[in-house]
Amino acid sequence: MKSSTTHILTALGCLTWGVLGHGQIQNFTVNGVYNQGFILDYYYQKVNTGHFPNVAGWYAEDLDLGFVAPDAYTTPDIVCHKNSAPGAASATVPAGGTIVFQWGPGPWPHPYGPILTYLAQCSGSCTTVDKTSLRWVKIQEQGINYNTQVWAQQDLINQGSKWTVKIPSSLKPGNYVIRSELLAAHGATSLNGMQNYPQCINIVVTGSGTKSLPAGTPATSLYKPTDPGILFNPYTTIKSYTIPGPALWVG
Ligand SMILES: *[C@@H]1O[C@H](CO)[C@@H](O)[C@H](O)[C@H]1NC(C)=O
Repeated sequence: MKSSTTHILTALGCLTWGVLGHGQIQNFTVNGVYNQGFILDYYYQKVNTGHFPNVAGWYAEDLDLGFVAPDAYTTPDIVCHKNSAPGAASATVPAGGTIVFQWGPGPWPHPYGPILTYLAQCSGSCTTVDKTSLRWVKIQEQGINYNTQVWAQQDLINQGSKWTVKIPSSLKPGNYVIRSELLAAHGATSLNGMQNYPQCINIVVTGSGTKSLPAGTPATSLYKPTDPGILFNPYTTIKSYTIPGPALWVG
């Protein structure tokens, strides 16, 4: 009796850690206006009723609010997380507009590692896009501040688990998927130790921009487990850090 109680408590402890340990983008604002994202409750609504609310955030089965590991970099899970599928809605964003991603449910727990944001254009509506057809262009990246040794993810924590991204003002109107990704590096000293948290949201960009995205990269070609910014020791003074992924495009 005593030992089974201990087992139950231990299991609950692990569940609690699982929920508090990581996270998802649970909601976001566009120029200050609130939008609901995809949350884990919706996964259970889908399992139990077959339905869940139409949101711009992509469906995914990161049921432990966990990560995609480097040994899955060549699988479709790296696109927009595990077994992901497009959101049924899209959020409208004027070119030059600001999106603030809110990670949750708890405070983001990992202070080491970069934050990257990508866009991919959909040929039709992003709500029905084949995720493997998407070609990603990096529009934002932040690694470590060499003077303070503070990583982007520590900034995220300091900002209440919020991350702000500006859509390039010159971007042509159209249907895009925005992919926000945290790379938690606390285990990056080991091969397969990096933790990628990709999250996707459909957006419709409006305005009078004229620039198309450059040719992008399939998500399955973004990273290799041995890239210098993926496999490295974060527990030392970092004087040079190679942010993973393709070149930055600023519009
Ligand atoms: C947005 O998500 C955060 C993090 O999970 C949560 O604390 C907050 O209550 C959410 N906002 C709304 C209006 O639900």
